[in-house]
Amino acid sequence: MTTTLHSLDTAATGLALFDAAGLRPGARVLDVGCGRGSTTLTAARQVGGSGLVLGVDACLTMLEDARRRVAAAALRHVGFVHGDAQTQRFAPLRFDVIVIAGGLSVFADADAGVANLSHALLRGGTLALAAPNDHERVRAVVERAGLVDGDDATPGVVTATAIGPS
Ligand SMILES: C[S@@+](CC[C@H](N)C(=O)[O-])C[C@H]1O[C@@H](n2cnc3c(N)ncnc32)[C@H](O)[C@@H]1O
Repeated sequence: MTTTLHSLDTAATGLALFDAAGLRPGARVLDVGCGRGSTTLTAARQVGGSGLVLGVDACLTMLEDARRRVAAAALRHVGFVHGDAQTQRFAPLRFDVIVIAGGLSVFADADAGVANLSHALLRGGTLALAAPNDHERVRAVVERAGLVDGDDATPGVVTATAIGPS
């Protein structure tokens, strides 16, 4: 059976997102809408112990599961924040990569959400969003937030780079 991004299989979306975002050992990653932590665990394994992964989710019960899974995996470079990613302030933390497996669907106001997250990216950092059916809309939103489009090499994923102050 072939799994496509269009099925919104979040495990597959997570892997494609991380491929597109170019996760490297040592990277600092924010996993937006981390849910029960599947994408967080994938990111944590890819960046290794010299990196850092922070998962943020608006749902406490999801986060409790995520925390249990990370504890069971004995990963110490992972943390979680309960909050709305549209408004949550992450300073003083800044990230090399921000991934959003749920795409723009996690925001009531997509422009406000992406603009907020753009302030949490290091200069040269990458925002990677799943965009299974709304590629053009997602590209327009990231452009309005002042991020520069990445390439479109991965179907169903939009990547963009922060060019503002670090
Ligand atoms: C489809 S799940 C994805 C979970 C995980 N990233 C994965 O791929 O397995 C989307 C998650 O986004 C969370 N979410 C939705 N809107 C959010 C927001 N504004 N801020 C933080 N989390 C949000 C939901 O609570 C849910 O856990």
